[in-house]
Formats: sequence, C-alpha cells, structure tokens
Amino acid sequence: MTNNVSHGPGNEARAIGLVGCGGMGLRHLYGLKALQNVAGKLPNGGIPARLLAVCDTNQENAQFIANNAEQMLGWRPLTYLNQAAMLANHPEITEVDITTGSESHHTLVIEALQSGRNVLVEKPLAATVRGCNLALEAATRSGKLLAVAENVRRDPLNRLVKALVQDGAIGKPYLIVDYIATGGDSILLTPWRHKKETGGILLDVGVHSADLMRFFLGDIVRVSGITRLLEKERYPSRDKAVVSEHFYKKWLPDLPDKVESTADDLLVGHFQFASGATGQWTIMQAAHADKRNMRLIYGSKGALELPPDRSGGPLVLRRDDQEQPVTGQALLDYAPSYRLDPLTVALFGEKKPVNYRLSFEEIDQKLVAIELFDFFQAVAGGHAPEVDGFEGRKAVALVYSFFESSLLNRSVTLAEIEQDREAPFQQAVNDLLGIK
Ligand SMILES: NC(=O)c1ccc[n+]([C@@H]2O[C@H](COP(=O)([O-])OP(=O)(O)OC[C@H]3O[C@@H](n4cnc5c(N)ncnc54)[C@H](O)[C@@H]3O)[C@@H](O)[C@H]2O)c1
Repeated sequence: MTNNVSHGPGNEARAIGLVGCGGMGLRHLYGLKALQNVAGKLPNGGIPARLLAVCDTNQENAQFIANNAEQMLGWRPLTYLNQAAMLANHPEITEVDITTGSESHHTLVIEALQSGRNVLVEKPLAATVRGCNLALEAATRSGKLLAVAENVRRDPLNRLVKALVQDGAIGKPYLIVDYIATGGDSILLTPWRHKKETGGILLDVGVHSADLMRFFLGDIVRVSGITRLLEKERYPSRDKAVVSEHFYKKWLPDLPDKVESTADDLLVGHFQFASGATGQWTIMQAAHADKRNMRLIYGSKGALELPPDRSGGPLVLRRDDQEQPVTGQALLDYAPSYRLDPLTVALFGEKKPVNYRLSFEEIDQKLVAIELFDFFQAVAGGHAPEVDGFEGRKAVALVYSFFESSLLNRSVTLAEIEQDREAPFQQAVNDLLGIK
C-alpha cells in the first residue's frame, strides 16, 4: 500500500527510511497519515511514498513505530538498529527522514547524504553551527537535497502574519518581541533536552522562534544577550508543562526521578535586523508559577499580537486609524497577498483561514504533513525546499549568537557566528560531540 502524498507531472515514487522512533518519529507518522487522508483532494494524482523501513538504537522504539505505522498507514516497515544497516539493506530507499535527538543529526545527515539519499532532518539542523556546516558541505558534495523539518512557519496563521507585514498592515516594522516563560524545574519531554551536548533546551525550542522571526522580518545582523543555567536539577513534570506531551505518553512513565541539567535554560537578548528593525527575545525555561508567552510585532502604523504557536488563534491587528482591534475575517482586508498552497487549503479546509479550532495534535500533524510534502515536492521537482540547510543553519546560528555574546561579553554579528569564526561556547559542545 502506498500513500499518495504529492502531485505534479513526472513524479516518481518515493521510498522512505525513518531514523529515530521517539516522539517526533511518531509525529512524522501522523504527518504521513494526514497526507494520505487528503491525497484525494489534491490535483493531478500524486507522488506515491512508502515508509519502507525504520531504525532506532532502541529496538523497542523501532518496533513501536513499526506497529503504529502498520495501523496508521496499512503497511509495516522493517526495523533496524541503525541507519547504516537500514540503508545497506534497502538500496531502494530514496529519502531519509531523520527524527533523532539533535546530538546525532550531523553524523546521520552526512551518512545519509554520502549514501546518495535525499534528507529531511528535524530541527535543529545540527547541535552546533560547525555541525551544520559539515552537513551543508556533505550536501554540496553529494548533490543530494537537504531539507530541515521546521514546521511552525507552515501554520496558516503565520502565513497570514507574513502577508500582513508584507502588505503594510502595521506600516514599517519597528520591533518584534518574542517572550516565553515556562518550564519551572520540569523535565521538558526527554532528559536529553537538558544536556549541553545536544544544544540543550534553548536550542531545541529557540530554533522555532529564530526561524519565525526571520520568516516575518528577514535577516538578522547583530545580537547581544545573556544566557544562564538556572535549574540545575529537573524532575518529571507535575503539571502539563508541554502541549505536545500527548505524543510522549509511551515514554513519560520511564523518565528518571531527577535529571542533572548542564544546558542553559534562560536566554535574554536583543538584536537588529538588516532592515533596521529591532528585536527583543526572552526564553525563560525555568519560570515558576507565572507561565506565559507573547509575540508582538510593532510598526509605524500599528501592531500585531500573534497567537501561541499551533493554537489556531486569535491573531489581532491594532492600528492607529482603527478604534477597535481588527481580528477574524476583517484581517483579510489588510492582507491581499495572503495565499496558501493547495495542500494547506486541503488540510485546513479553507482557502484563507483567519483562525481555526483544532486540538494541538490535529494542528501538529497537519504542519508535519506540509513539511513532508514540501520535501517530496522539492525532490520531485528538483528545486530547493522551503527550509533548506542554509535556512536551518541561520536558525541555529541565531540561537548560538546569544550564547556566544553572553560568554564574550559583547555583541556579535550573525556573520561571524554563521561562518564559525567565533565559537567559544560551542567549542565545548563540539568537543563533547567530537565535531572537528
Ligand atoms: N518540530 C517540532 O515541533 C519538534 C517537536 C519535538 C521534537 N522535535 C525535534 O525532533 C527530534 C527528536 O526529538 P524527540 O522529541 O522525538 O526525541 P526522542 O528522544 O523522543 O526521540 C529520539 C529517538 O531517536 C533515537 N535515536 C537516538 N540516536 C539515534 C541514532 N543514532 N540512530 C537511530 N536512532 C537514534 C532514540 O532512541 C529515540 O527513540 C529533535 O531534533 C527535536 O528537536 C521537533
């Protein structure tokens, strides 16, 4: 059985191998399932895609995902303990989808590209900028496609925000404020997120905001910031700390009683866009009692208040010339360029959604479906995916620029961080991971 996941002339069947059978591996299955569900609504047939094999260093996890795949997709992939064995046994695999923790991304990406496969890797592209650069070099050498699974920007409401900004709804953008305070002393889904050698929790959650802020307002050129480790011990969550916890039900009971954190959990910074706009960013993953998040974009004529990620709304526009906040359908008057691709329309059931009421799980699988589809289309069409390796590196470099600024006690340029000219903080991570 195959999943018809794409459309377009001359498309060949894609054969996929999944690497990493934890929470995100499961979410990619849901994404494939969501694609299967809407395939009939897409024009011009599709690209048949079959999940041929899965692998995980933890055999039980590989079996778990294979069982779920059988139930959801109607086909049981074969299971392996590592990527090399999976690829050696399946020369017919054309695409590799990597959903392991970030510390293994660079190694697995390079191995898959060198074996002649196209690669989609979960964000972050790698645990350090140097890891990203090695992955990018491997992509160039192999001539294969490298895409990063960055899902948040695919939310229709973020497409609407982008259109509102571009179409001048707030005038000239002045300032973006991105603020999240959560976490307390809870373990965020998995112990590895609190270990420095993975890039830690700030990289894990920060790359989403980094990508979005660039998506909305363009390149960032200079940053200044402070990072700190506040909670040195973390414990299984006593409340529902993370919206995606549902996908981790299988593993949450096995969390250790305590995790020694080595990764920073506070980032406070400000930065400058190439356009001249500025930004203010706080990621507080050690916030007790008072948990909140907000994302605002201010301009010369008004301001946008964005909803929490993957929530469906509301998105609010306030303008000097309007007494009442603009929301709902009225937003469309200020975003004439707002357009969605056929898959997003099929998944959300509307040409121009301005809000929607769906569970986090439903939203998540749609956004993963869109990024998978974008990857398959890029391979089939021989063009770049929306978030390629260079975009993925920019998000990683932006987060690390705050770590480096904090350690160097000065502002840093994105150019020096992206080119790996200044990396005293990351050097420790590179050493831990053996990245040279
Ligand atoms: N886009 C999003 O919204 C989002 C959300 C959560 C996680 N992620 C990303 O997905 C990735 C995985 O996160 P997760 O929460 O699923 O972690 P996880 O720990 O639940 O799953 C990782 C799996 O990879 C396996 N693994 C580790 N090293 C491996 C290797 N070398 N070969 C094969 N298998 C290996 C582990 O055994 C585990 O089963 C991370 O990069 C994370 O940042 C993205």
